[in-house]
Amino acid sequence: MTDTPLSGHIQASHAAFGPFMDFLATSRWTSRAGSPGICDFAAGNPQDMALPAYVEAIREASIPRSPDWFAYKGNEGPAREAAAASLRQRLGIDFESDDVFLTKGASTALAIAMATLVRPGDEVIFSSPPWFFYESMIAFSHGVPVRVKVDLSSFDLDVDAIGAAITPRTRAVIVNSPNNPTGRIYPPPTLERLAQVLTSASEANGRPIYLLSDEAYNRILFEGAHFTSPTSYYRHSMLLYSYGKTLLAPGQRLGYLALPPSMPGREEMRKALLVSQFSGYGVPDAVLQHALPAIEPLCIDLARLQRRRDVMVEALRECGYEVHVPEGTFYLLPRCPTPDDAAFTERLAADDVFVLPGHIVELPGYFRISLTASDEMVERSLPRFAAAIEAVR
Ligand SMILES: Cc1ncc(COP(=O)(O)O)c(C=O)c1O
Repeated sequence: MTDTPLSGHIQASHAAFGPFMDFLATSRWTSRAGSPGICDFAAGNPQDMALPAYVEAIREASIPRSPDWFAYKGNEGPAREAAAASLRQRLGIDFESDDVFLTKGASTALAIAMATLVRPGDEVIFSSPPWFFYESMIAFSHGVPVRVKVDLSSFDLDVDAIGAAITPRTRAVIVNSPNNPTGRIYPPPTLERLAQVLTSASEANGRPIYLLSDEAYNRILFEGAHFTSPTSYYRHSMLLYSYGKTLLAPGQRLGYLALPPSMPGREEMRKALLVSQFSGYGVPDAVLQHALPAIEPLCIDLARLQRRRDVMVEALRECGYEVHVPEGTFYLLPRCPTPDDAAFTERLAADDVFVLPGHIVELPGYFRISLTASDEMVERSLPRFAAAIEAVR
């Protein structure tokens, strides 16, 4: 008799995870990551030393001031208030500290949101190209993933297609702005139209469709770009945030889920979220909770990131790549000069330049560059990008 330790929903989650798992298991990047001399653009990982003020805040927070310093933690008051104050100031929405639920990053915030909202068989809509974990996370939450393509000419949300994908089983729509991998910030008119579509569909369904606003990159904005939170337009929204991007310290698991003050039935929702939060999904470790007020105002050097973006866009265009300019996040998304992104990125990898093949983010024919690489890596890589396109011309 054959058996698998994977339950039904985990099998679905596992299948959705497939392309990225394969990449992790078999790519040259996995065996070469961390080696001296490589140019590593594959993931949003730091390639420079961490911000000194961040390190200092963690050091300070790790010195106990009271016997309960490292006791079990829930949602610590000063951390919640620091996060709510920052949201009020940056987004102009009156978030309350009691509506901030501290999490181990944005993924945990998303897991908690779905554990709270999704009943088995409920559908959750996400846009493609997506962050590559959405589909598996929806399946893991016993939901049914429903993908809708963005408008590929502008990378804007296709609100009509989202409307057409809604059924009586739709429970939530995930929106990620600024977007990984496209760098697109969805503009207010798009968000207003989305809110209208969700409001009328919720009325027709007789239960609310929730908007899960994944704002992991809401502070990684390039000059001239303005971010508007999708939660400003729609009352049944949850905001999901990560300090991992803002501080480029994704291994230090810290983020939150926040409910906007306009959400109907907030009291009930707070109780439900606490149950999900403490049923295995986890709150951040004590040190990070103590450090949060000090690290809240910190951010990676955006001017430097922007210079790196501009250097790469210009150099890649000069040697013939088609590249659009992202408004936010730290990703570039050039088109491959040949349709087979796996083969082209393998060619780059053979030259120790590591990027993410587009098919992994459901965008075959493209590749993703993470601008978290160091300036030295950028400099070393440019002649190799030029040689790679020259070779296939
Ligand atoms: C769009 C998006 N959402 C969520 C996450 C997860 O963030 P965290 O590492 O804080 O869980 C990421 C990380 O890459 C992301 O790109």
